[in-house]
Amino acid sequence: MAKIVPFDRTWEFVLSVPSMKFLPSEGPPEIAFAGRSNVGKSSLINALVNVKGLARTSNTPGRTQQLNYFVPSGYEGTQEDLPPLSLVDMPGYGYAKAPKTEVEKWTRLVFDYLRGRATLKRVYLLIDSRHGIKKNDEDVLKLLDTAAISYQVILTKSDKIKASDLEALIVQTTAQIGKHPAAYPELIATSSEKGVGIDDLRKAIAKVIRN
Ligand code: GTP
Ligand code: MG
Repeated sequence: MAKIVPFDRTWEFVLSVPSMKFLPSEGPPEIAFAGRSNVGKSSLINALVNVKGLARTSNTPGRTQQLNYFVPSGYEGTQEDLPPLSLVDMPGYGYAKAPKTEVEKWTRLVFDYLRGRATLKRVYLLIDSRHGIKKNDEDVLKLLDTAAISYQVILTKSDKIKASDLEALIVQTTAQIGKHPAAYPELIATSSEKGVGIDDLRKAIAKVIRN
């Protein structure tokens, strides 16, 4: 039977993972949200599940420092009654002002998780509409190609730029990701603030889970 992604249910936070040894045993398919610090990962998860403040957001980059797991409510979580998916909010990379050792710790966690998780079904790589793909994003794109993890690029904060600039950015970014073998060829432009592209993303996630 096709699995239904319950975006109409309530969602809950289940667990924070500070390093690889605390990862839960592999259960439901995982959908992870990665990207530079402050790009809008936690805000996008809140918009998707329609719960303000479920994933903690902040103006200060470096808010999320662990892998945070969210699941739809109403499942026991036992092998017989697993939720159909988990959403994983990741620490951001590329935040230069945090203490170096902290940054190294999060960056290692992000890279280790992306490389080594069998139940990770799709990574959404978030890119700020105002900045486009930067050098450290390229490093993550390459890592995902090498690890052969299916990923899709999402432009965030589309409300912050003019419609004509967004169109140009979509064309340019689509050409850039075309060079990456594991990247889904189309991107999704979103604004968590205005609710733009959120339904498209829900549909995309439903498709990943069905396959
Ligand atoms: P880290 O956890 O630090 O890596 O950041 P993050 O990627 O989780 O970003 P977060 O969701 O905390 O958002 C960072 C800031 O951007 C917050 O002040 C949000 O309110 C703002 N923001 C996020 N999405 C949008 C959006 O679609 N539009 C606008 N205008 N602001 C947004
Ligand atoms: Mg965050």
